[in-house]
Amino acid sequence: HIHTHTHRYSLDTHTHTHTGTLVHVIASQSLYTHRHHPNLLVMEVLLVRQGTSQEPITIKMDSRFTPQSDDIVFHSEPDYKGASYIQGHTTMAEVPGGICPSVHIIWTPITPSLTLLPDQAQSRWGFVVAVAGSQDSVQAHYDTALELMANGNLRPSHLRAWEELWAGSTLELTGPDNLSRALIGCMFYLLSAFPSLHEAPGHFGGVSPGGLSNGGSGQDYWGHVFWDQDTWMYPSIGLFYPQLARAVLEYRVRTVDGAKDNAEKQGYKGLKFPWESAVSGREVCPEDIYGQQEIHINGDVTLAFQHYLYLTEDMSMFTEGRGSEVIWGVADYWVSRVTWSAEEQNYHILGVMPPDEYYYNVNNSVYTNTVANLEFAVELAALLKYPAPQEWQQVADKIKIPFDQKQKYHPEYDGYKKGQFVKQADTVMLGYPLGLPMTPEVRRNDLEFYEAVTDPGGPAMTWGMFAVGWLELGEVEKAGHLLQKCFKNIQGPFQVWSESSDGSGAVNFLTGMGGFLQAVLFGYTGFRVQKDCLAFAPSIPEDITQLCIRGVSYLGNKMDWLVRGQEVYIILREGAKHAGNTKPCALQVVLKNSGTKIPLIPGNLYSILPSSQMLKLSLQILYGYYSKVIIKYCMDITVKL
Ligand SMILES: *[C@@H]1O[C@H](CO)[C@@H](O)[C@H](O)[C@H]1NC(C)=O
Ligand SMILES: *[C@@H]1O[C@H](CO)[C@@H](O)[C@H](O)[C@H]1NC(C)=O
Repeated sequence: HIHTHTHRYSLDTHTHTHTGTLVHVIASQSLYTHRHHPNLLVMEVLLVRQGTSQEPITIKMDSRFTPQSDDIVFHSEPDYKGASYIQGHTTMAEVPGGICPSVHIIWTPITPSLTLLPDQAQSRWGFVVAVAGSQDSVQAHYDTALELMANGNLRPSHLRAWEELWAGSTLELTGPDNLSRALIGCMFYLLSAFPSLHEAPGHFGGVSPGGLSNGGSGQDYWGHVFWDQDTWMYPSIGLFYPQLARAVLEYRVRTVDGAKDNAEKQGYKGLKFPWESAVSGREVCPEDIYGQQEIHINGDVTLAFQHYLYLTEDMSMFTEGRGSEVIWGVADYWVSRVTWSAEEQNYHILGVMPPDEYYYNVNNSVYTNTVANLEFAVELAALLKYPAPQEWQQVADKIKIPFDQKQKYHPEYDGYKKGQFVKQADTVMLGYPLGLPMTPEVRRNDLEFYEAVTDPGGPAMTWGMFAVGWLELGEVEKAGHLLQKCFKNIQGPFQVWSESSDGSGAVNFLTGMGGFLQAVLFGYTGFRVQKDCLAFAPSIPEDITQLCIRGVSYLGNKMDWLVRGQEVYIILREGAKHAGNTKPCALQVVLKNSGTKIPLIPGNLYSILPSSQMLKLSLQILYGYYSKVIIKYCMDITVKL
């Protein structure tokens, strides 16, 4: 706690820093989770002498840390290397008869005061908390911390880990400051919630809407994992870091037994991922109806697997990684969950709650039926030579997608009347991220009809999806207005998001950040993850003179993209690849209207100039709106990426 006359709080995307100025000294307190060693929480105090005084300067430290928890019974252990040590276990198992995990905590006691000696201009003190699941582990982590402190490497190793992350995923724009700040804040918090690149795989417990749950009883969703992870946060992380994307998929694989149990309890085959997920994959939602009816989660989970395959071609995730079990299990669930309608001659999914949770027990939620994508199961089965049951293709071909022929739009479910109030982005997600083919007219109608009736008090991720839709149609200004709405959910100085615009709901709302980031990463750029290509079709507003996205990962390659006015620059970085691929694939840019193919040579800068024509095509990288291409080497071009 710093008591002074002037305070400044800042988020510098490496550390949280709180600075106070006293007469003779500037005191800064930084709090961070160590990026390289995520089992360490660090608090540092930096004192910097002001003026020419040579007096010793002492500040008092005041700590009110009393370890107690409603969920964990702690007891003290003997001090460990001069540090306090407690351990305990959770009071309740996730499922009856399940284990109650242990929690071990070791922390450096806070000294009553810190003194800057007469000959010192400045000094930094570190205080560490190590948290782990066993005695061996917590002591090893604490030892690491002591070692890092002894050789002055605690903070530098943290900063290096962040530098590495930022170098691999940069989103910079020249334009409105508030937008820039918001984007960097979103990337910072999302990356913070995902595993360290240096962490051994296998421990990731998924991401909850509020990150590591910080609420009391009943707040911030108890740290449970929802579709918020797979649909909202995952895409922006997956575009940069296949390794972190894979951690999300592996988390779902680890919950397969629970998902099997959920499906059985519902009386269906295969796997039913829980609406609220914890460790086991058994449904932990406190209200029954969501687990029973909000079954689109199953499709949300498999869509993440599908996009991962398209972005990486990493088959090992589906074989040794058991990803195929997830895809087959969910396909079997859908087959047993659908009902054949003799009248309409197609398959129905009855009695569901759509993403729009204002409605339940409806038939044929258009989002749910679209995301129940059995086509991918068939496609993967062919790749793995797995004998797919015929029903997968049958259901894929004949599932009902509600459509109003007269008004040319998608009703949210059977019997939805145009104009009925909706909670959040639902039907507008058919276009993105689900990629359901439709004409621009229908896309526009869906956006217009639903925008008018969407609850302004709904959760924050909604407007990002509308923005992506309008950007697809080239309505850049409209998209900009919708993104402006998100600013109501962002609070300074730390760029923290609340779930609702009045500040209520889950905090720090990563789901909203995920929606906002997608509006830029997939909206302004037009990136679309497709079977044979990464499509790209930028449209940026006039007040953004330059948008730079570095570190886009595709098929083992890393690319940097820059959009400036009508021009696009691409650099393929050299030597990038990831574990799933033995070597990076050769990439080429394919221009949609001319069919021109340009191989990308690592290290060279390519610049693409616009034309007004629009045509369609696919291949490795699809690039939408441009026909004329100029290829130059780096030195010929003044832009530096
Ligand atoms: C963000 O900045 C832009 C340009 O400076 C301004 O027009 C806009 O009103 C700002 N938005 C918010 C929500 O403050
Ligand atoms: C859903 O379909 C079932 C079976 O056709 C029908 O009995 C039920 O009334 C429908 N529910 C709604 C809300 O339309």
